[in-house]
Amino acid sequence: MASGWEWDDTLFSGAAAHYRRGRLPYAPGLADVLDRALRPDGQGRLIDVGCGPGTVALRLAHLFREVVGVDPDGGMITEAERAADLAGVAGKARWVRARAEELPADLGKFAVAVFAQSFHWMDRDLVAATVRGMLLPGGSLVHISDLKTETRSVDGLPHPAVPHAAMGDVVRRYLGPVRRAGRGVLPQGTPGGEAVVLSRAGFSGPRRHVVPGGQALERTCDDVVAGVFSLSSSAPHLFGSRREDFEADLRALLRAASPLGRFSERVPSTEVFIWGKDGPTDP
Ligand SMILES: C[S@@+](CC[C@H](N)C(=O)[O-])C[C@H]1O[C@@H](n2cnc3c(N)ncnc32)[C@H](O)[C@@H]1O
Repeated sequence: MASGWEWDDTLFSGAAAHYRRGRLPYAPGLADVLDRALRPDGQGRLIDVGCGPGTVALRLAHLFREVVGVDPDGGMITEAERAADLAGVAGKARWVRARAEELPADLGKFAVAVFAQSFHWMDRDLVAATVRGMLLPGGSLVHISDLKTETRSVDGLPHPAVPHAAMGDVVRRYLGPVRRAGRGVLPQGTPGGEAVVLSRAGFSGPRRHVVPGGQALERTCDDVVAGVFSLSSSAPHLFGSRREDFEADLRALLRAASPLGRFSERVPSTEVFIWGKDGPTDP
């Protein structure tokens, strides 16, 4: 993790209740792409590390005998349990409150491990080594994130774009100019370059897939506000007693940007890297 920053358990504090509503979904073809790429036989087990409210584990549950989601945030685990119930898959889903650095030893072996926009929060060398040891021979590690290199114009869609830049200004007015994360700050953001880390841990590959996004979405002010509170950099706890004032200012900005209270967005494309447990020299 970035030098000078230390993980603490407030990182996503209060964000879970806003997560499903606020975050844009992964591209709709994600499960199909992984089904074709991984060819699971339906009998395997999947572990989703940094699972949040179960976003990816639940999207993939039909491809596995059991899915195990791990996350240190109690709110996220509660949301994941609720979502699994609603999806009718609670019987094959297990949720574990733990940091990836302290994965319980009794979780067993897995065919697939998923990290969806979570690996950058971890002690990556340690976690990569531990998870590699938890994969069965022939197993895969799947790294999932929104594709960062595309522009998602809303030209031609019925509502204005979400005023992200102006919203960032409001956040900075309350939280200061440097990106916040838990009890600390992250001036340089979270680290990239996971390919180096995963190669160093002995994984082979990767195979890259881009699952196409671009589908039009209509978002309400409530959705957009939830999106802000779902982020570690503007999680509810960071505003303390000024949270209501912040929300009022944010909503005033949104009303000015869209008097009808509707915004257009597009689903991001999803970038997937699939790594093999077994390096080229392994038996
Ligand atoms: C951006 S969210 C992604 C959630 C989910 N995977 C998704 O794609 O929607 C990042 C998640 O990583 C979790 N996380 C942060 N640090 C972690 C750690 N050291 N070990 C395990 N999970 C962690 C957070 O609690 C949060 O739920």
